[in-house]
Amino acid sequence: MCGIVAAAARREVSEILLEGLRRLEYRGYDSAGMALINEQRGLQIHKRNGKVKELEAAQLQEPFYGSTGIAHTRWATHGKPSQENAHPHTSGQRLALVHNGIIENHAALRKELIDVGYEMASVTDTEVIAHLLHQHLQAGASLMQAMQKTVARLEGAYALAAIDVEYPDTVVGARKGSPLVVGVGIGENFLASDQMALRQVTDRFIYLEEGDLVEITPGAVQVCTLEGESVERPTKRIQEALETSELGDFDHYMMKEIFEQPVALEATLAGATTVQDVEDSFGNAAAGVFDRVTNVQIVACGTSYHAGMVARYWLEEIAGISCEVEVASEFRYRKRVQHEGTLLVAISQSGETADTLAALRNATEGEFIGSLVVANVDNSSLVRECDLVFLTRAGAEIGVASTKAFTTQLVAMLMLTLALGRRRNMAEARQLEIIQALQDLPHYVRQTLELNSAIQTLSEAFIPKRHALFLGRGIQYPIAMEGALKLKEISYIHAEAYPAGELKHGPLALVDDDMPVVAVAPNDELLEKLKSNLEEVRSRGGELFVFADREAGFATEDRVTVLPMPHCPEVLKPIVYTVALQLLSYHVALQKGTDVDKPRNLAKSVTVE
Ligand code: M6R
Repeated sequence: MCGIVAAAARREVSEILLEGLRRLEYRGYDSAGMALINEQRGLQIHKRNGKVKELEAAQLQEPFYGSTGIAHTRWATHGKPSQENAHPHTSGQRLALVHNGIIENHAALRKELIDVGYEMASVTDTEVIAHLLHQHLQAGASLMQAMQKTVARLEGAYALAAIDVEYPDTVVGARKGSPLVVGVGIGENFLASDQMALRQVTDRFIYLEEGDLVEITPGAVQVCTLEGESVERPTKRIQEALETSELGDFDHYMMKEIFEQPVALEATLAGATTVQDVEDSFGNAAAGVFDRVTNVQIVACGTSYHAGMVARYWLEEIAGISCEVEVASEFRYRKRVQHEGTLLVAISQSGETADTLAALRNATEGEFIGSLVVANVDNSSLVRECDLVFLTRAGAEIGVASTKAFTTQLVAMLMLTLALGRRRNMAEARQLEIIQALQDLPHYVRQTLELNSAIQTLSEAFIPKRHALFLGRGIQYPIAMEGALKLKEISYIHAEAYPAGELKHGPLALVDDDMPVVAVAPNDELLEKLKSNLEEVRSRGGELFVFADREAGFATEDRVTVLPMPHCPEVLKPIVYTVALQLLSYHVALQKGTDVDKPRNLAKSVTVE
């Protein structure tokens, strides 16, 4: 979603703020803005519609400097992307404010503020926060008191950062329902919605908790609760090497991240050579919880939801444990009946997805025996709030289309299957077979990556198309869904996935010679049934693109293009086939000329409902 960066320093900070925005831009890229306090010239602001490079150009053309400032990259929620609606928003020529999240009672607040004479320069929900802050400052409150009184009026989700010319060395912030971290420096302090924005200046972070307010100056960080009570939050040093945001030899982050998968999978699996190692990856408290699990409830969104759907097959077929999967935005609002002994499993790359977080927070006392998150971002909200944590080691994922996060999530879920399966009398030989398969997985993924140019050639057929169907059976159905999601997300071709057996119950009506049909066809027990389904497509003139095990007996012929996939253990096929479908969507998008890493209307981390 949107990104916030702020600094209170003794040196010039405009370049630090711009670099922070560049690092956050993958989260939202409709417009960008920056405000600095300059002792001679007061509040200085640049806002630009479009990407951060537009803001950089404005700063180059008309530079301004300061040592206290805030900056923002926006993903529009209230009000279209435009210069007026871009953040920071100001009030009374004295303060500027940036906001991530959605204020639900903004309409009532807007009316109230207009009634007392405030003029609105934008249609955003954020602008009302700036005016509320101004109102309290005018009434004599300090900047921190004004922030406290302001957030007391807000309903919804927010991460905020504000500056005021009367407090030239101070930034105040607040968080509820949207992340905000403090970057602790030497003689300077920072705020950001994601630590990644600040890794250029510090490796020490304070993770604010829900309802925290914060005041930073170059020499101090003060955190207090909504009630104004001062609280201590620990400072943590980030251990791992600086996340690389360099593209290296690649043209796009998505391609770089697709090719990073063998290493990401190795890192996620590191040390897991026995079933005990696998279980230890879930932390010390895992055994006590896993002993009591009789059902699993998975909640997630988007690609992470597809990981949950694959996991359901594994948990039920391999571990013999019942499993439900639901998109978090539905689960959170539904009255439900939960079985006893259910473990709630949240899957989320970012660990910040608002709906997934809400699903966890809405769980009633005693509804679940515990919660587990599979996340890629340490110290994210879900990681801090779940009982058990499995961290995938995919490294920073910048491309909006999730790739390496998904395949590492699948590994995590297969590891969970092993940990739960051994408690339900899963045969030891089967356990060892799966562990061996996992160890071999990076090798099969490397083999699949070697198909890159063959997939590029195959992708050309999709360029003139407006629609595509993806078919799979069994555990490959969610992989077909993931393939369709990738294609529509970055190439804007309308793509839908169906379990192949459903074809003749409706979707077959769509098949004509202009409809490419992608089939995920490993050599499994459903292969013969899938072949019959594909015949149904062929006999209606549909053009087939079959991603098939090279031993599955498919051959390229008229209107059938076969991509022979590596022959690999059954349990790995969902992961291996995913990689081929990722490459397909990448090459289609590339040739269509879309912005592969920053597809229109989307954002990386969806921290609003
Ligand atoms: O960070 P999360 O895994 O919770 O994000 C969930 C979805 O927003 C995300 O997977 C989205 O569907 C991706 N852009 C798909 O590529």
